[in-house]
Amino acid sequence: LLIQPFQLAWATGALSHGPLIRKTTLLGDLSAIFTDGDATQLFPDRPAYAVDMFDTPGGEGELYVGVTHLYPGKVGDEYFMTRGHFHQRREQGEVYFGLQGEGLLLMQNQQGQAWTEPVFAGSVHIIPGYTAHRLINTGSQTLSALAVWPSTAGHDYTSLPHGFALRVIEKAGKVRIMAVKHG
Ligand code: 6PG
Ligand code: NI
Repeated sequence: LLIQPFQLAWATGALSHGPLIRKTTLLGDLSAIFTDGDATQLFPDRPAYAVDMFDTPGGEGELYVGVTHLYPGKVGDEYFMTRGHFHQRREQGEVYFGLQGEGLLLMQNQQGQAWTEPVFAGSVHIIPGYTAHRLINTGSQTLSALAVWPSTAGHDYTSLPHGFALRVIEKAGKVRIMAVKHG
């Protein structure tokens, strides 16, 4: 018995050969995460990113596989980024693989320490448990990254009340990673 596998085009992150799920997040959904949140309402229907997933069974011990396509753009001087989250099951990690484009993976632990890794075609990122994560597109092309994570991980979007401790902006044509000061 031979079962045809799912397929991934490594150069673009396009998924095929099986049931897929796509979730698109619009700029208008993201007003809370950008410094100039009001500016997202100028183009609320513009897609900021899409997540494609193989429609595979979940459950304890099972893994999900998906690709995030984060489009290029800025809100004010701040690059497009994903909402970012801890996993609801805090101990559960994830692996990201850069496929195309240029960007950063921003990570932050529960002590509030934050750091970034460059994402590019071929980059591999081990996101430990207890670590929030967000993709940021600092380039002019779509940033695509493959992710594999426990199906039971879940998403917790509420546990960074002050947001991430780092912001990534363009200043004088250059990518700048800035520490955020909370008042
Ligand atoms: C996950 C992955 C990944 C992530 C997307 C969108 O745990 O599901 O980290 O698929 O969900 O990159 O990011 P947000 O979930 O933060 O919007
Ligand atoms: Ni995740």
